[in-house]
Amino acid sequence: MEVVICKNKEEASKIAADMITAAVAANPRTVLGLATGSTPVLMYSEMAKAVKAKKASYRQVKTWNLDEYEGLAGTHEQSYRYFMNKNLFEKIDIRISNTHVLNGLAKDPEKECARYEAQIRKAGGIDIQVLGIGSDGHIAFNEPGTSLQSRTSVVYLTPSTVRDNARLFFHGDMKAVPKRALSMGVGTICEARKIIMLAFGRNKQDAVKGCVEGPVSQFCTASALQMHNDAWIFCDEPAAAKLKLKEYYSWRSATKLGIRK
Ligand code: F6R
Repeated sequence: MEVVICKNKEEASKIAADMITAAVAANPRTVLGLATGSTPVLMYSEMAKAVKAKKASYRQVKTWNLDEYEGLAGTHEQSYRYFMNKNLFEKIDIRISNTHVLNGLAKDPEKECARYEAQIRKAGGIDIQVLGIGSDGHIAFNEPGTSLQSRTSVVYLTPSTVRDNARLFFHGDMKAVPKRALSMGVGTICEARKIIMLAFGRNKQDAVKGCVEGPVSQFCTASALQMHNDAWIFCDEPAAAKLKLKEYYSWRSATKLGIRK
């Protein structure tokens, strides 16, 4: 696991976006796994800038998103489909038919999850998976207590995630936040060939500590990344504050990336 500790989220977002831009430029048919939430927003705008500057084209790129709330239509302002359209897809030259988000209105949500998994397999699997991390260590909506081998399925949000999401996206209204979602599983996520996680701010420091230095455990589903051989975490100083081997990771990972002398 590589941990790149950056000056701030602007720097981290730019480096992570450059990594994706370079991958798409090298392979125009790259398959991306994408995340929503507040964390990747800056990275997405850096990716869009790179498209404008003609550094990469997403015409042939295909994407699959991590998750979607149950019961929300893609046109709903709080849906993750809507979020992706606004924050990335409408700003780059991707074909919307090449973008995939789980259908929160599916009559049979479990069947929808199985269909999604089959689609990803048919596309040859995910080349690069983008992740955020919840303050309780979740990736996608895989809350503490979820098997590290889980597959895409219907999941339940913990009260702390409902609270976090109410604050950020539902004008503080806890009742408005759906309590279930359709989510890629931890096992599904870990099959991606490369993983890029972003983590910013003090409220992520325990989650980052658990992910990087905690035991591999279903109590912090992000810790499954320790078993992945090409997982990168880009964080700012506050998110990295509790890491014991902070200086070592910072030096090793930055040197590997060639961003520090
Ligand atoms: C979003 C997702 C979630 C978020 C996590 C962090 O698609 O799967 O796991 O990445 O909840 O959210 P933010 O970035 O809003 O702190």
